[in-house]
Amino acid sequence: MITVPVSLGEKSYEVVIGDGLLGAAGAHAAGLFPGAKACAVVSDSNVAPLFAETVCAGLRTSGITPHLITVPAGEKSKSFACVESVTRAMITAGLDRKSFLVALGGGVIGDLAGFAASLFFRGIPYIQIPTTIVSVVDSSVGGKTGINTPEGKNLIGTFQQPRRVLIDPQTLRTLPAREYNEGFAEIIKHAAIRDGAMLPAIAAASASERLDSLAALIARNVAIKAAIVSEDEFETTGLRALLNFGHTIGHGIEASAGCGEMLHGEAISLGIRAALRLSEQFAGLSPHDSTALLTLLAAFRLPLVLPENILTETIMEKLGRDKKFDQGAVRFVLLRGLGDAYVSTEVTREAMVEAIEALRGLE
Ligand code: NAD
Ligand code: GLY
Repeated sequence: MITVPVSLGEKSYEVVIGDGLLGAAGAHAAGLFPGAKACAVVSDSNVAPLFAETVCAGLRTSGITPHLITVPAGEKSKSFACVESVTRAMITAGLDRKSFLVALGGGVIGDLAGFAASLFFRGIPYIQIPTTIVSVVDSSVGGKTGINTPEGKNLIGTFQQPRRVLIDPQTLRTLPAREYNEGFAEIIKHAAIRDGAMLPAIAAASASERLDSLAALIARNVAIKAAIVSEDEFETTGLRALLNFGHTIGHGIEASAGCGEMLHGEAISLGIRAALRLSEQFAGLSPHDSTALLTLLAAFRLPLVLPENILTETIMEKLGRDKKFDQGAVRFVLLRGLGDAYVSTEVTREAMVEAIEALRGLE
């Protein structure tokens, strides 16, 4: 068992990583919420059939009645309509402000259920049990919750830290290959912004059978995220904004792709490639370092070439709605070197258009 602390004063919590934690969720919950009688377990239509019964059985053993609420799998569930159905199901189940919530699934469930928890009876505590690479190394830690609207992704949401994050690497075994690989875009992002020395460990993970020593790699990534969140919980100092490396153009691409066409990590892979080009141009990143990161993205079969049907104009329009714009000027995360990131306001609209156009072919 590995424990990574997230230090946030009274809101501090632990991220626990270890095989078998799925079945121990009840014991963790009983320790965290003594006297709690009932909870919501929010999951999706792919994850619930795989893992919900193990979680619910553990909760029952600990004297807590779980109410399983299952939403359709996929990004479309990050919607106001889904928040309404989840919170109303919680009311119907008789849950109240003494209850808590368990988010069981990938980033979609973590963001949606965390948002629902922050609204229900003006806020009830929740536990994250992430089951995808993206959610394990990124979205389950840090308390950003949210949903999408037609205007953009994650524009509506709250900061609501979980009370514990339970990561059972065994759950990652059932991930389809595409979903497994996409998560490595966030791991490669962490290496790029904070830990260039992680590159060989990531390369080893691409070459080996999945799960071999994955717990250690997960812990290393969670520690990076935890350190950043501990210092800049509300993204006010610019430190947490470093986690947006590859996400400015990446989100524009994700929002421009047809629904379900491109996974989050796939769009971020393209966003990272564009950000590397801009880093070479504006921050003096060496082509050697760029190539090292691009080689890793390719090793996880992440896309490096933008599909023709996604227009640059559309990406730029979606970007304009992204909250990474600050009073008209884009705050763009650039790399000076591996592990050395900063937020720049120098990247021009023209340079971004050029970087997106450059994604249409391999140099
Ligand atoms: P996801 O939750 O949609 O999961 C991907 C797919 O895998 C889904 O079909 C899901 O049902 C399935 N799945 C999940 N776990 C599985 C398992 N163990 N076995 C088999 N199938 C499984 O997507 P994601 O990639 O985990 O997360 C993407 C979302 O996370 C986006 O909405 C993004 O905006 C958000 N995100 C949030 C933050 C944050 O800080 N809050 C950070 C990064 C990403
Ligand atoms: N994934 C970006 C953040 O948590 O700030």
